[in-house]
Amino acid sequence: MSSVSDQSPKVGNSETEPEAHITVRNLDMAYGDFLIQRDLNFTIRRGEIFIIMGGSGCGKSTLLKHLVGLMEPARGEVLYGSEDFWKASAIDQQRLKRKFGILYQSGALWSSMTLAENIGLPLEEFTDLEPAEIRRIASLKMALVGLAGFEDFHPSEISGGMRKRAGLARAMALDPEILFCDEPSAGLDPISSRMLDDLILQLRDSLGATVVIVTHELASIFAIADDSVFLDADTKTMIALGDPRVLRDQSTNPRVRNFLLRGELGAAATQAGGAVTG
Ligand SMILES: Nc1ncnc2c1ncn2[C@@H]1O[C@H](COP(=O)(O)OP(=O)(O)O)[C@@H](O)[C@H]1O
Ligand SMILES: [Mg+2]
Repeated sequence: MSSVSDQSPKVGNSETEPEAHITVRNLDMAYGDFLIQRDLNFTIRRGEIFIIMGGSGCGKSTLLKHLVGLMEPARGEVLYGSEDFWKASAIDQQRLKRKFGILYQSGALWSSMTLAENIGLPLEEFTDLEPAEIRRIASLKMALVGLAGFEDFHPSEISGGMRKRAGLARAMALDPEILFCDEPSAGLDPISSRMLDDLILQLRDSLGATVVIVTHELASIFAIADDSVFLDADTKTMIALGDPRVLRDQSTNPRVRNFLLRGELGAAATQAGGAVTG
């Protein structure tokens, strides 16, 4: 697949500076009259791992719904390259959406189908490929996530970590340009969670996809993030943007620092003989 960025570079755009893949501009998000977040402005660059973080209920999943074209902004724009999603025709919206791979929180596999059938589903929906070819691609994607040989298993026969990886294989079925994940490591033990992080990194490196992840797992954030945005529920807007390691060390906002220093603050409190109640 040839990319526009392979051609002559744009003026003022150095070779080391990747192009903007997703641009969120003046975005307000609301359910009816109920405002969730306002004035969101940030850019996700092609090929980076971008983290959406913030406390429970601040609007992270809602932002993801806006980024995958499931929810229309109350105000503002979501652009892919220079294309404004909500000003595009239905056909163009479909074309943009086909480039998205989505890993849902639960993995969201069909329990009555085998893993190979689950992973082949997007191919059946969006391509005219023959069943044998779909099966071949499903096997290939399963091998990518370490599930070779599990084609004919059902979701109930494998572990939670394996189900997440199967969900990831399905999200990658159509070779997406952008992979979206909502709390991918939720419910996983630390080792499975690490494996999933490594896998996401590998897929980004080998396939060159842009990756957008909602998570509040610090280990995961510091292990894989290139860039991040922090949503705040109280002020209903973003209060930090940038490399989370830099934010952890340099942010002057106490809410951002508290969030990113959670583990260390907890450990310090325990060491200092801090209250260990309940
Ligand atoms: N379909 C919906 N209708 C109305 N309010 C919703 C809906 N989904 C979520 N909300 C509310 O929007 C806020 C943000 O939700 P969500 O994006 O799921 O937060 P997060 O993913 O950060 O935990 C919450 O207060 C939630 O109750
Ligand atoms: Mg959520």
